Amino acid sequence: MDQFEKTSKVIYRAISASGLTKFYGSNRAVDGIDFSVLRGETFGFLGPNGAGKSTTMRMIACRTPPTAGELLVEGINVRDGGRRIRSMIGVVPQENNLDPDLSVRQNLLIYSRYYQMNRMEAASRSDELLRFVGLINRAGSRIEELSGGMKRRLMIARALLHNPGILVLDEPTTGLDPHVRQEIWQRLEELRSRGGVTILLSTHYMEEAEKLCERLIVMDRGKILASGKPSELIRESVSSYALEVRDADSIPLLPLTPGVSGTKRNGAHFYFADSPETLAPLAKEFDEKRPLIRPSNLEDVFLQLVDGGEDDCEAI
Ligand SMILES: Nc1ncnc2c1ncn2[C@@H]1O[C@H](COP(=O)(O)OP(=O)(O)OP(=O)(O)O)[C@@H](O)[C@H]1O
Ligand SMILES: [Mg+2]
Repeated sequence: MDQFEKTSKVIYRAISASGLTKFYGSNRAVDGIDFSVLRGETFGFLGPNGAGKSTTMRMIACRTPPTAGELLVEGINVRDGGRRIRSMIGVVPQENNLDPDLSVRQNLLIYSRYYQMNRMEAASRSDELLRFVGLINRAGSRIEELSGGMKRRLMIARALLHNPGILVLDEPTTGLDPHVRQEIWQRLEELRSRGGVTILLSTHYMEEAEKLCERLIVMDRGKILASGKPSELIRESVSSYALEVRDADSIPLLPLTPGVSGTKRNGAHFYFADSPETLAPLAKEFDEKRPLIRPSNLEDVFLQLVDGGEDDCEAI
């Protein structure tokens, strides 16, 4: 490691993982992955169910130890710095774990005791956060009276209680209606624009990843399949434009023209090219199927990487 590497690792990297591995019994949940997250960055974990996203995030948050490899959080090794690391990380786990016997506000106040906040500080910080997530009017409600979206917002407030420099959000918006999801995005954007907070986020919503994450990794079966900025991944994995034809299972993929690649998946045809004009003649062939030419997106990349196509072709 040269001096620059050494310096950048210490100063700029919030997270640095190399050969990170986790076994549950004989199940290799995370399989020797390398990645780093820069300070202040919003970094995404994508991948199908069981890919190893939560396990990776739980290792970062010192909720479960790695089996092998190195994992540094703000330069501190998770193996011996758990207490210090936990004090600088706010975590929203995949499953809500609010205390059902306490009110909304009490859930925050109880948590503040872990961080040795005094009463006054805890009370004012709790109310500030309840206002931030739009729950101040529900401060006295019982947890069971909250909707799923309200519980999720309370989890986010709880994770922010001690002003953490790193926020780990495991599927913060799963199951929420689009309105609440956008509200949560808005809050995360605000945190980001205030600066300083490094956000790690897993999601199954490609739109969310594309909108929020500066860089991301796509995982499957414990390994990293691809990493980079959403726009780079789109450019590298599929061309800029897609022609999508639904309900075309019985039709074979069309012969491809130069610069066009194609794949058939779940009864639909997808053709990719660098310009809409290149795709237009193919679209004509499917007139009655209401073909759609659109910019390629992260979902195209994800499906390409994770399933591969059933019937992939590329024109030379
Ligand atoms: N506490 C545990 N004990 C045993 N095996 C586990 C445990 N947690 C996860 N696993 C296993 O580890 C693998 C990775 O699971 P993980 O929860 O990290 O996936 P994920 O990418 O978060 O999936 P999802 O999108 O469904 O949340 C799976 O095979 C899972 O069965
Ligand atoms: Mg998970």
